Amino acid sequence: MFSGTAHTRMWTTGILLFVVAIGIVAWQSGANGVSSPTPQRGSDIFASYCSRCHGADGNGVNGRAELRKRTNIWGAHPDKVLTVLIFGAAATDDHQGQIRKAMPPMPYNDADIASTAMYLLHTFGGKMIDISEADVERVRVAHREATLKRLRQKK
Ligand code: HEC
Repeated sequence: MFSGTAHTRMWTTGILLFVVAIGIVAWQSGANGVSSPTPQRGSDIFASYCSRCHGADGNGVNGRAELRKRTNIWGAHPDKVLTVLIFGAAATDDHQGQIRKAMPPMPYNDADIASTAMYLLHTFGGKMIDISEADVERVRVAHREATLKRLRQKK
């Protein structure tokens, strides 16, 4: 009888320790692993990184780099936004004798790029769509292939 109870207690303790260990492993990998893309994460990135050039509300800074009213990009295929975030944007002619500044590529991982694209499309584009890390990789590869093809044709 006694040995039976002790046995049960030993098993219970063992199982408890096992569950706690699994919990710690899961918690650790959650803390270190890459989390899946969310528009909320994109909003945080916009506030901490993009707003220095585009303004906290996307209305630009000193009349420059306004984002909200860009029908050219919000009306286009969502891949266009991803292309800008992954590769940046080249400087352009402002048609007033000045060069409009270039935008640097986004120095973040693919989950963060997807999060930011989702935030932009939801907020400025009115498109409630999901964007995944796989979309980021797909656009990156497609753009690279197209660019290489164009460069090779020039030779
Ligand atoms: C160092 C300044 C700078 C930072 C930081 C920056 N951008 Fe830009 N961005 C620009 C400039 C300059 C342009 C081109 C502006 C123009 O065409 O008037 C641009 C253009 C864009 C465009 C539109 C391009 C088009 O085709 O109309 C989008 C979308 C954009 N940025 C999003 C972002 C997001 C999101 C972030 C943060 C991850 C970001 N930018 C960070 C400077 C910046």
